[in-house]
Amino acid sequence: MKKIVFAMVLASVTTVGAWSASAEETNPAIVHRQGIYKIMAGHMTAMKSILFLGFAAPADLNFHAQGVLSAFEHMGNSYPPGSDKGETKAKPEIWTQPDKVKQRATDAVTAAKALVAATTGTDKGATVAAFKTMGEKCKACHDDFRKE
Ligand code: HEC
Repeated sequence: MKKIVFAMVLASVTTVGAWSASAEETNPAIVHRQGIYKIMAGHMTAMKSILFLGFAAPADLNFHAQGVLSAFEHMGNSYPPGSDKGETKAKPEIWTQPDKVKQRATDAVTAAKALVAATTGTDKGATVAAFKTMGEKCKACHDDFRKE
């Protein structure tokens, strides 16, 4: 979990650099999906600051959870044929194992819904548990389908 959180913080601090890098990438599906994943990572990083580092905005947890779920709902057709051409970290398996990708995506959306549900209450323990499960689902897909 620590590793995931660290990776997320790293992802958020490198956003400015990544912005200029992605300006060079012109494959629309690559630019779009990387942008959407950054949105998810931003919300997860903000939640981490509230849940574990004491940032005083507990009422925003629901907003961030909704943000993660909403980002999943706005991924569109993220991996169309030809979207392996360009600066992508997607493994080739993402185009040859559609059922497994779908399963990973479904698991993640289920976790995002549970995170939204947890943040509508005031039970911090439940939110922490749902947040960790969410992170595990992000990681499960990255382990299978994202290059290091
Ligand atoms: C269904 C699989 C899948 C799920 C679920 C998933 N990811 Fe990813 N993610 C990928 C793949 C594949 C890439 C590489 C995309 C590329 O480079 O074209 C990626 C890339 C990223 C990136 C790097 C984007 C960039 O700037 O290049 C971040 C950050 C990220 N994901 C965060 C998350 C977070 C946070 C979650 C969970 C809330 C998540 N991902 C869920 C597959 C997934």
